[in-house]
Amino acid sequence: MTPIETTLQAAHDASCNAYAPYSGYHVGAAVLLDDGTIITGSNFENASYGLSLCAETVAIASANSQSKLKHIIAIALAGGKPDQSGRAVLNEIADTPCGRCRQIIKEVSDATNIDTPIYCLHQSGYRRYSVSEILPDAFGPNTLA
Ligand code: THU
Repeated sequence: MTPIETTLQAAHDASCNAYAPYSGYHVGAAVLLDDGTIITGSNFENASYGLSLCAETVAIASANSQSKLKHIIAIALAGGKPDQSGRAVLNEIADTPCGRCRQIIKEVSDATNIDTPIYCLHQSGYRRYSVSEILPDAFGPNTLA
């Protein structure tokens, strides 16, 4: 498997750990670091619905908490309704990051100085997006300069 395929599989595996009693929707995310390490996250919901954390945000914040923010070279995502083991059953069309996560991924892109690729898993493969593609004309550190 390529490093990207391994990262996508880690994201899919992480969907098993979703805490999603309200939406019943499981999402797993994984960030690939420049040394090949993979750090995962899964969605973590809250009874106060709006406080729920998305899988991408959890994975990125986890990488940052290990001082690895600037080492992220790719992000992978896999979501779907869970099967009996909690694993996301992938949709025909790949899930893509929500609006808030796109802004958070933009921060990764600025911190690393790369147009971070985002790989989104679907039933029959995956799609690759770039930050500039999913969040064009974005607000970012340059706006504040
Ligand atoms: N979710 C994510 O984890 N990432 C996204 O980019 C979109 C949505 C989660 C949030 C919520 O727990 C569930 O999916 C349904 O919206």
